[in-house]
Amino acid sequence: MRICVIGAGYVGLATGVMFGKLGHEVVCVDIDGRRLRDISAGRLPFYEPPLEKELRKLVKNGMLSASGDIKKSVARSKFVFLCVQTPSLSSGKIDIRALKTACRDVARAMAGADGYRVIVVKSTVVPSTTDTVLKPILEDGSGKSIGREIGLCVNPEFLQEGSALKDSMEPSRIVVGAHDKRSSDALARLYSPIKSSTFRTDLRTAEMIKYAANSFLAAKISYANEMANLCLRLGIDSEQVLAAVGEDPRIGKLFLKPGLGFGGSCLPKDVRALKQKARELDYPAHLLTAIQRINDEQPDEAISILKSVFKDLKGLRIAVLGLSFKGGVDDVRDTRAVPLITSLLAKNVEVVAYDPIAMSRFIELMPTIRYASTVEDALTQADACVIQADWPEFREIGRAQFSKMRNPVVIDGRRLLDPGEVEASGAKYFGVGYGRARRE
Ligand code: UDX
Ligand code: UDX
Repeated sequence: MRICVIGAGYVGLATGVMFGKLGHEVVCVDIDGRRLRDISAGRLPFYEPPLEKELRKLVKNGMLSASGDIKKSVARSKFVFLCVQTPSLSSGKIDIRALKTACRDVARAMAGADGYRVIVVKSTVVPSTTDTVLKPILEDGSGKSIGREIGLCVNPEFLQEGSALKDSMEPSRIVVGAHDKRSSDALARLYSPIKSSTFRTDLRTAEMIKYAANSFLAAKISYANEMANLCLRLGIDSEQVLAAVGEDPRIGKLFLKPGLGFGGSCLPKDVRALKQKARELDYPAHLLTAIQRINDEQPDEAISILKSVFKDLKGLRIAVLGLSFKGGVDDVRDTRAVPLITSLLAKNVEVVAYDPIAMSRFIELMPTIRYASTVEDALTQADACVIQADWPEFREIGRAQFSKMRNPVVIDGRRLLDPGEVEASGAKYFGVGYGRARRE
């Protein structure tokens, strides 16, 4: 089967590689020429080593190619997956301009092409977008009718960056939202080699499943952060509390790790977008508001811990370790490092920032702060360090590195390190949700 993927980002390339591995011939279309050249050379435009390895193989054996020619690519394909980004506008609403443009291009390409093909929306869009906005664009531009000459589906992804390939090949579930039975049957058949529970729904339900899932993940994190903040103030270690709480199968262990809040390309944006949609519907969405508020304030938990140690932060040199939105990725979208560093700078702190992989991307967001080339360099003469992202290599920091600090104080913003080990290597340990018993 020939498959066209429009938007060669995280989701598009994970989708393309997955279908390539299933034996289909995939063409990835993008408007970014540099990206196309990278893909043609078997290189990913982001850091995801296992996916890159498979991409390279598929490009080499001709199962996956990159193209800027949307017309030809759509005309030759039986399935067209729309995977362009849908970022937030300042209002919190999603920006679907790129998606609308892509739909117009796909529609034009279909106008002159014979045969039935299925358009699959993988980009995250708020419920009702596909049937009320995208469907008319596809029909008007192609002169064809959905349900008869064109199939239309919504097929959200649930992959996590850092495990994009595994999450695509072994998804927790497959959601096939469809306009009609023929579209639904076609997409379900395409996914049939992947063994996973499949939910066949209408378009809006599929759109909502994605938001409901990400809102719940975000809720778990904000809950964990609120409990952790309370634990710290009560002199209790939240790690023990949340570990025991998570053992209840009704609650579950995952996504209960306190930190400096959730970032990334999905959770913050999806909570904002659903809240905005609720507002349009005159529904107050109190829970979404609380999730977001806790998340917005969570980076300040590091500031409050610092204040409890130093009283006045002015003039201190603080190393911020980890700039990506989580360890293991080079994505800086909605990273908590931005609000954290912004708050530190507002307190007249001298910030020295370091990340093993994401530094060049982060420099584009904050070009004027100081960057270090190694962890040691970042820690040298620092009064404290804040771990912002859970990069595994930060676990290796020990006496040799801490001894370079003017003041070996560690604020563990991701509960990555073992407090006992840090203290044994000569530094003072403070962590989010890490209350030390003040009970006499
Ligand atoms: C995806 C989803 O599609 C988004 O809706 C979801 O909420 C998050 O995950 P992602 O894969 O992370 O987005 O996007 P990104 O990595 O930014 O890639 C999007 C690609 O689409 C880029 O390569 C961009 O150049 C391309 N693009 C954008 C087009 O090819 N055409 C356009 O008109 C716009
Ligand atoms: C997320 C969803 O997990 C995925 O299903 C969806 O398709 C896309 O969005 P991703 O953006 O890769 O995936 O990141 P994720 O691993 O979920 O982490 C999001 C943020 O939450 C990170 O900043 C992470 O540090 C934070 N987090 C996660 C916590 O603070 N605590 C946790 O327990 C888990």
